[in-house]
Amino acid sequence: MNARKVNIKCFGCQMNKLDSTLVASALGRAGFAISGNVENADIVLINTCSVRRHAEQRVFSHLGHLKHIKQKRPELIVGVIGCMAQRLGVELFEHKAVDIVCGSTQIPKIPELINKALGKQCQSLAVTEQIRKPDNKNDKALDDFESAYSTAQQNLSSQAFVRIMRGCNKFCSYCVVPYVRGPEVSRNPKTIVEQAKRLSAQGVKQITLLGQAVNCYKYATCGKMYCLADVLYEISKISGIEWVKFITSYPTDIFYDQILQAMAGLTKVCNYLHMPAQCGSDKMLKAMNRKYSVNKYLELIERAKERVPGIEIAGDFIVGYPEESEEIFAGSVSLVKKVRYKNIFVFKYSPRPGTKAEKYAQDDISQEVKRRRNMELLAVQEEISGHLAGEFLGKTVRVLVEGPSKKAHLEAENKDNHYQLVGRTAEDWIVVFGGTKELAGEFVDVKITKTSPLTLFGELT
Ligand code: SAH
Ligand code: SF4
Ligand code: F3S
Repeated sequence: MNARKVNIKCFGCQMNKLDSTLVASALGRAGFAISGNVENADIVLINTCSVRRHAEQRVFSHLGHLKHIKQKRPELIVGVIGCMAQRLGVELFEHKAVDIVCGSTQIPKIPELINKALGKQCQSLAVTEQIRKPDNKNDKALDDFESAYSTAQQNLSSQAFVRIMRGCNKFCSYCVVPYVRGPEVSRNPKTIVEQAKRLSAQGVKQITLLGQAVNCYKYATCGKMYCLADVLYEISKISGIEWVKFITSYPTDIFYDQILQAMAGLTKVCNYLHMPAQCGSDKMLKAMNRKYSVNKYLELIERAKERVPGIEIAGDFIVGYPEESEEIFAGSVSLVKKVRYKNIFVFKYSPRPGTKAEKYAQDDISQEVKRRRNMELLAVQEEISGHLAGEFLGKTVRVLVEGPSKKAHLEAENKDNHYQLVGRTAEDWIVVFGGTKELAGEFVDVKITKTSPLTLFGELT
């Protein structure tokens, strides 16, 4: 019998990408075939995100599309997995297309849920009842799942994510993550290093360590408290692993000096820090339950720039948080100018059910104002990015090649095995250049001949 085909579509952050990779790997081993195509799939899984309303709306519109396919092929099995599955649980079965609902903290059960649905044509559900309650047994199941399957990214050769922490305990007022991913749990450093070694044996060259506040990682074992810096030292010792990145950092002093020292001292640790500020006003930071002031944030950034020469900083901002006046917004603009980020991600505030902000504050900033502030902040950043990118003109950078570029950036046409390739530098600059497909997953040197705010263009040297 032919293997059943599973299509997995992924919305959301790197955590979700990692989960999708794990699920694909587990299903592959259970005898399923992973397919890039929805039309011929026997099973479609949607890995979902709840962070903003828009993210959930996109899932519903995809489900609408699947409902149509299912009218023609009633035997098609549709599963909603991930953060939205945890948030909405059984409610999702109200949607005609849905057969399986499985939260992010229950993903080891997916192969079993699919087999159940295939056998009996019935709905199957796995969500964590009390998501904020510590659950050692489930943690162990997640850990074993993580160790059993590969997290090497199928579409990006030589790269893998490694989760070092699950969940989040920060409870920023606007954020749904603590309610869908559960309490913060750091993984045993031994397990992390073993996983990194296995990935290196599979040919992985770059590992990105993941955690919602990755710099707050801590694990006590053998009479020692391990922090992120210790994990960086251990992973740096693994031959074959060339670059180590970590995302996302929370602005705090805790372990900060050790981490900066590891970045500065270890050549394999990339000089890239993604540390969201969210906004540039103390009043607003307090309302958001972010535990730092603007000055503290700036001091942390200054320290990073001093100790780690060449470091590039990325950040996130939320515009239109309740009661954000023009003056408060000006604080964000001013912070962006002072930090001189490599790039920022700007999000329009979206009230999330169950969060403090949704319960106690009114979403009083209009869509129009949110949109304008979003564009304004991005425009300020674009100028800074443009300047920073411009400094690369004529220089040669080392790039880990991802593969053919999806967008046609250059005029070079993809023929005679000559492609527009895209890759990233250690500092996370995106680089576009011409070359052969076989370079995917390799390190190359590229001489920069042209720049734009978000992309460097060049030629192989
Ligand atoms: N744990 C990471 C990121 C989590 S979500 C961190 O704390 O840095 C990614 C980004 O989404 C956040 O940094 C924030 O800028 C944005 N975000 C989270 N909740 C949001 C909401 N309700 N509305 C708009 N943006 C939000
Ligand atoms: Fe959300 Fe804050 Fe946790 Fe990040 S640190 S996941 S923004 S609660
Ligand atoms: Fe990530 Fe979205 Fe979940 S940002 S943790 S996939 S809510």
